[in-house]
Amino acid sequence: MTRRMLVTGGAGFIGTELVERLVKGGATVTVFDDLSGATPERARAWLGGDGPAGDATFVRGDITDLAALSEVMNGVSEVIHLAANTDIAGGFVDPRLDLDGCILGTWNVAEAMRRQGVTRIAYASSGVVYGQPDHVPTPEAYGPLRPASHYAAGKLAGEAILSGFAHLYGWQAQAFRFGNTVGAGSDHGVVHDLVVKSLRDPGSLELLGDGRQAKPYIAVEDVADAVLHAMEGGPDTTFEVYNVATEGTLTVLQVAELVLGALERDLRTVDIRPLGGSGGWPGDTPIVDFDTSRLRALGWSPIYRPEEAVTRAAAGTRDRLLAAGGPLLTAVERRAAHAAVSAQTTGSTGSTEADDSARTAVVAGRPVAAR
Ligand SMILES: NC(=O)c1ccc[n+]([C@@H]2O[C@H](COP(=O)([O-])OP(=O)(O)OC[C@H]3O[C@@H](n4cnc5c(N)ncnc54)[C@H](O)[C@@H]3O)[C@@H](O)[C@H]2O)c1
Repeated sequence: MTRRMLVTGGAGFIGTELVERLVKGGATVTVFDDLSGATPERARAWLGGDGPAGDATFVRGDITDLAALSEVMNGVSEVIHLAANTDIAGGFVDPRLDLDGCILGTWNVAEAMRRQGVTRIAYASSGVVYGQPDHVPTPEAYGPLRPASHYAAGKLAGEAILSGFAHLYGWQAQAFRFGNTVGAGSDHGVVHDLVVKSLRDPGSLELLGDGRQAKPYIAVEDVADAVLHAMEGGPDTTFEVYNVATEGTLTVLQVAELVLGALERDLRTVDIRPLGGSGGWPGDTPIVDFDTSRLRALGWSPIYRPEEAVTRAAAGTRDRLLAAGGPLLTAVERRAAHAAVSAQTTGSTGSTEADDSARTAVVAGRPVAAR
């Protein structure tokens, strides 16, 4: 039987990878995304009906809109829920972003599923739910969890919401706690930002924190594999949690050196300057490492080691940014620029470049009435 998938946030970094795999595997896929976090290139492609996964149906919508979600949920057999506020720094300034994007949005996804009788969901959680754990590598059973940001709290709340629905209505729900996911298509995160900074100034590189923050880095291809592997081969438990990461960690300093290597910089000529402090931003958890034995017991293992994942991501990000030819902005700078443009043109702060191009939903490549 054909799988009929709904992927919220499917136009994002991880979503695009997953949707491509699903389409190639023969699934019927609907992408539900407001394009607030899609790169300009991806947003234009989806709006033009030529999205990265050409055979997926694209519906432009916001997960805070329960009616739109309920409509698009009709006839769906499985959901992959990725849409979220991924602007962690933005959530520090405006906590409402995480309430809407992570908590209420996930509640709406679950409620729309209940209304339409959908009973299977995979949810993009994050390793940040652990906070700063006392025990590393941290297994899924670790507790108590002490999220250290609104984003982390929102991700954990999402898990709790789905567990509640799953137990009450007999669903199968899976939550995936991703480690730092890297790839050429990402427009946020340490690799992207270091590539941007080094392209702007080849002679110096500023690092957030003291450079000793150590985390696992995983290629987006391996994340997509993990999710699909567990969805297809995992046990039919009511609610299951999986850590998704590589074995071992890299410090930010090591990541910087790998990025500079990928950009063919001579390390001796670059002044690497950690800004100091143990974390990179409010709510950062400097030392994390995840035990992935639960997922490995299902037969999954990552293809790329963390060093390879970072090097490939850095080279690919450089190529993508140079080909796009736009201004070289870090994630924080880009979001600030969008907010400023939106405030000028619409009088609000919530819209994005993609919003300005058309308030149009596109279904199977053809523009249809906006929802
Ligand atoms: N990238 C990572 O390192 C990482 C790590 C841990 C967890 N995650 C989680 O994985 C998921 C995907 O992350 P990503 O890196 O692809 O992020 P992303 O920002 O590239 O993708 C998120 C997508 O969701 C869409 N979106 C955001 N708010 C929405 C809303 N209200 N309604 C509809 N669509 C909305 C955006 O337009 C974007 O296309 C997120 O839930 C994120 O929290 C990512």
